[in-house]
Amino acid sequence: MSALLLGIETSCDDTCAAVVTREGEIRSNVISSQGVHDQFGGVVPEIASRHHLELVNAVVDDALRKAGVGLDAVDAVAVTQGPGLVGALLVGVASAKGIAAGRGLPLIAVDHLQGHVAANFLLPDPFDPPFVCLVASGGHTFVARVEDHVSFDVLGATLDDAAGEAFDKGARMLGLPFPGGPQIQRVAAEGDPGAFAFPVATRVPGLDFSFAGLKTSLLYAIRDMGEERAAACRADLAASYQHAIVEALAQRTERALEQTGLTRMAIGGGVAANAALRERLGGLGAELKVPPVELCTDNAAMIAGAARFLPALPAAQALSLDAYSTGQRGL
Ligand code: KG4
Ligand code: ZN
Repeated sequence: MSALLLGIETSCDDTCAAVVTREGEIRSNVISSQGVHDQFGGVVPEIASRHHLELVNAVVDDALRKAGVGLDAVDAVAVTQGPGLVGALLVGVASAKGIAAGRGLPLIAVDHLQGHVAANFLLPDPFDPPFVCLVASGGHTFVARVEDHVSFDVLGATLDDAAGEAFDKGARMLGLPFPGGPQIQRVAAEGDPGAFAFPVATRVPGLDFSFAGLKTSLLYAIRDMGEERAAACRADLAASYQHAIVEALAQRTERALEQTGLTRMAIGGGVAANAALRERLGGLGAELKVPPVELCTDNAAMIAGAARFLPALPAAQALSLDAYSTGQRGL
């Protein structure tokens, strides 16, 4: 039987565990979305941590059960070390440390953003470097050059909000529930993306992104037209707003391809689930790898998958691992 990695991911509001083989085959990928943050319009860190505590053991058990194995079949434990909500991360890290130390297993610390990139390496359709990777999630947005399986070079990143945050805040202004990305996508399907000319931050230099101005222009558009008319135009507003986010992401990615001379690209992060973005990037002319939606949004298969290429802490040192809230690359 192939060596198995158990992955645990608790960086935000999804409690995730997965079993992945050393070759990158996903044996199970369990995601428990907490669903309790909708009423607050965003993730409440303290509530997220408490829910991770309640869910993590059951989610790990479920991942093992779905893979048809017990802990004795696991060779190494992988866990998201950061970046993310530190209280949320600590629950996953503590539980991974406990399993590793208790079972005498090596522990592999994984950067969450490396995980989003590494989702592209998984079977059944692995996409190997070199390529340009666009990662757009609720907390991060950047375009990177990926030359190997263990790291990436950031070419440009958002100067303010992440693309997912722009979706979430825009949805809130349009009276749509959290998380906003899938909601905007749904409502936008009935609307005209050319109805409103929302700004695409073309003046931002280099390969960086900015979404704060776009968010403000949606706010002003709704205020100027009044709530009643805004409600009647909701589909057009959503479609035009989504169009501006997609354009900003696609134009920067196109420039990254030009600058690097690379002709292959991949995507990751929750916003990579967006159908309009996938279609727009498909038209850039580069070879495009599109991971399944469940590997774009937060999951533990990408963490276990990334861990295949990373060094492990021996079991005896596992208890020394700590979480970090901000990225090591300044992201
Ligand atoms: O990667 P992810 O699951 O968690 C973070 O690491 O942040 O990304 C969550 C983000 C949220 O902002 C959510 O609104 C967005 O991804 N998202 C989408 C779609 N599905 C999720 N945005 C646009 N279109 C979607 N279909
Ligand atoms: Zn993420």
